[in-house]
Amino acid sequence: MTKRKGIILAGGTGSRLFPITMGVSKQLLPIYDKPMIYYPISTLMLTGIREIAIITTPHDQEQFVRTLGDGSQWGLSLTYITQPKPDGLAQAYLLARDFLDGAASVMVLGDNIFFGQGLPQLLQEADQNLHGGTVFAYHVADPERYGVVGFDGDDKVVEIVEKPEVPPSRYAVTGLYFLDGTAPDRAAGIKPSARGELEITSLLQSYLGEEALKVKRMGRGYAWLDTGTHESLLDASNFVRTLEKRQGLQTGSLEEIAFESGWIDREMLAERARIFSKNAYGEYLAGLLAADDSWQQSGG
Ligand code: G1P
Repeated sequence: MTKRKGIILAGGTGSRLFPITMGVSKQLLPIYDKPMIYYPISTLMLTGIREIAIITTPHDQEQFVRTLGDGSQWGLSLTYITQPKPDGLAQAYLLARDFLDGAASVMVLGDNIFFGQGLPQLLQEADQNLHGGTVFAYHVADPERYGVVGFDGDDKVVEIVEKPEVPPSRYAVTGLYFLDGTAPDRAAGIKPSARGELEITSLLQSYLGEEALKVKRMGRGYAWLDTGTHESLLDASNFVRTLEKRQGLQTGSLEEIAFESGWIDREMLAERARIFSKNAYGEYLAGLLAADDSWQQSGG
């Protein structure tokens, strides 16, 4: 069986965040102390995914390569794919067809941030389901901004609609899609919507129509933040700052996840700590090493 691969969609013009995004890609903007894309990468890593394609506009690709390299510093293998024209989220599966080579995938949108106790378990469970797809529904105050789930009287999912004027529920579909190896073929069969896009919701409908889509609720104990507006961008930064300041623990630290997963060794972690030795992030990484030292010395 081919192992599931990851896709991060980080294209788009970011026009809602102009003038900030005129010179820098939206997914590289800071969310407090890290580039935005670190957080979706961490989501894939917590799923156990190490082979990841990053889809960007042609002119932003170089910024991503400079920021993330080949991923080996985190024990990952990163592939870069360009999206010449943003024709909708489902287009990602057409662009990534060769990369996927028939494998199941998990796609996360480059501006979606997930946080919560038990998140790795939730992700790993979805990873186990290799037939059909799994997506997550999250209760939001403003469902009309998202793909929205419609339920029937028995709480069964009957539809997923993109940015409906009258939302059938308050459950938005998050930007995290576990789909089987049929996704590229299905995406090829989708017709563009009225706004001319290959909608991800049309792709999900294709699974739903065959009763091949699990829609799991992501409960209120989780934070799902998107960063599509100036306000939500600042909210996300404040959220991360509040957590990190209070706990003294990082969220979205790729080095920490890689080290804990056994994908990088102590030397590689030490090297990363040296690179960032002038700031709190480097201190944090050095602290992980010191904690590992004392754990080993105590016979752990
Ligand atoms: C996209 C999807 C939508 C989904 C959302 C999650 O919307 O089209 O179905 O709910 O991402 O972030 P966008 O944010 O691109 O407008």
